[in-house]
Amino acid sequence: MKIVIGSDHAGFDLKEECRELLDKGLGHEVEDMGVFDKNSADYPLVAHKVARAVAEGGFDRGILICGTGIGMSMVANRYKGVRAALCHNVYTARLSREHNDANILAMGGRVIGTGLALDMVKAFLETGFEGGRHLRRIEQFHSKGM
Ligand code: RB5
Repeated sequence: MKIVIGSDHAGFDLKEECRELLDKGLGHEVEDMGVFDKNSADYPLVAHKVARAVAEGGFDRGILICGTGIGMSMVANRYKGVRAALCHNVYTARLSREHNDANILAMGGRVIGTGLALDMVKAFLETGFEGGRHLRRIEQFHSKGM
């Protein structure tokens, strides 16, 4: 899979761990949109880059990590075609795929530990969308002229 990843300073350490799992561990093609150090950074700037890349169709999935995952998921969900899921455990990461066809996983580097986050990333990548009634519901996301 082609995966794009990004974080702010608060998600930097976890982003590095995830990138290593994705490319060295699982053999995915990973594009890292920063940040590249722990200096204070504004999370919307990276979230825009990753969300735009997914919305434009160049990547299969995106991963966004800030302190809580909240700000980055808010920014990403402003892009049409992006379904960013803020997840805190393997169950929500799996269901974000099965029911919501999420294409971006958002996580909080200050909220969850590395081991859990890596299991969530695996679940997010390995789980398929169930379609059916869930597809109908996703098609309703923009049904009010949004
Ligand atoms: C940075 O302090 C923090 O606000 C940011 O990482 C994120 O949690 C925002 O939602």
